[in-house]
Amino acid sequence: MILVTGATGGLGHETIDCLLKTIPATEIAALVRDASKATDLAQQGVDVRQADYFDYPALVQAFRGIEKVLLVSAVAFTDRVTQHRNVIDAAKEAGVKHLFYTSIQRSSDFVMPEVTASDLATEAYLKASGLVYTILKNGYYFEGLGYLIGSEVPATEISVPAGEGKIAFIKRTELAAATAALLISEGHDNQNYTLTGSEAYSFHDVARELSRLAGHPITYQSSEPAPYIAQKVAAGFPAPVATFFAQWADATQHGLLAGTTTTVAQLLGRQPTSLREYLKAVYFPGA
Ligand SMILES: NC(=O)c1ccc[n+]([C@@H]2O[C@H](COP(=O)([O-])OP(=O)(O)OC[C@H]3O[C@@H](n4cnc5c(N)ncnc54)[C@H](OP(=O)(O)O)[C@@H]3O)[C@@H](O)[C@H]2O)c1
Repeated sequence: MILVTGATGGLGHETIDCLLKTIPATEIAALVRDASKATDLAQQGVDVRQADYFDYPALVQAFRGIEKVLLVSAVAFTDRVTQHRNVIDAAKEAGVKHLFYTSIQRSSDFVMPEVTASDLATEAYLKASGLVYTILKNGYYFEGLGYLIGSEVPATEISVPAGEGKIAFIKRTELAAATAALLISEGHDNQNYTLTGSEAYSFHDVARELSRLAGHPITYQSSEPAPYIAQKVAAGFPAPVATFFAQWADATQHGLLAGTTTTVAQLLGRQPTSLREYLKAVYFPGA
């Protein structure tokens, strides 16, 4: 039986949706912290189990009879390392054989606050745990592009403190499909996979594609972090969140998210969504 954590969240739920297309619901378990948010999964026959990453005894109980666990990483600004260690230790105690962990892509040595340091600690802990592991180094979601440039078509300019940096954006549903394909196939013992789009794009590329779709010129100006954060705060984001966006831009400038692999394309059997396709669907629906 395969258990997916974070099953009420985006990636976890989408991974279960993909699993349900290929294996019976009786072979799938979902870990949630609020079962009332998972009634749709229960209705489809998924075994919904309740535990918080901070509740070690509940985790051990939830992992009984499970062969493979997909640990969907905990959210930033929480004690991710403690939560991940609890899941790894509980999986081991409950007799789980293989644990998949959703890490972040690392195409450079840049350390992203709130993300990379805790991923590195988790990966090291998992490798030393004795469990069979598979580390999924996930690319930056296309869905996060709107946080960086705004969710409306810009009038004339996009401004992000990302310099000439590039991102190999990948749609979260495509990451989920690739993850489900790995979960149901054999041969991923003690492997690392970097799961990205097939192409990396700069914000000049984003501006160029927006211009083409909008039919008027839109340019990219790399900005400084301070005014960018101030602009995000003025738009209503809390200061720590606005700072987090600027840190992703800094990580982009330092190449963290720029590398591409063909792994997702191979697992999907087709090219993942391109920048133009994503921008057209999200910024110009119906066009
Ligand atoms: N690669 C990227 O671009 C990117 C972007 C954003 C996030 N991420 C990382 O990838 C993960 C998955 O992304 P996502 O979009 O699916 O995030 P999401 O929609 O926020 O889902 C996070 C899931 O984790 C669960 N969770 C959080 N804290 C928990 C705890 N203490 N115990 C048990 N479950 C807990 C949440 O449960 P509730 O429903 O109860 O809250 C939710 O189901 C994120 O958590 C983050 O680490 C990556």
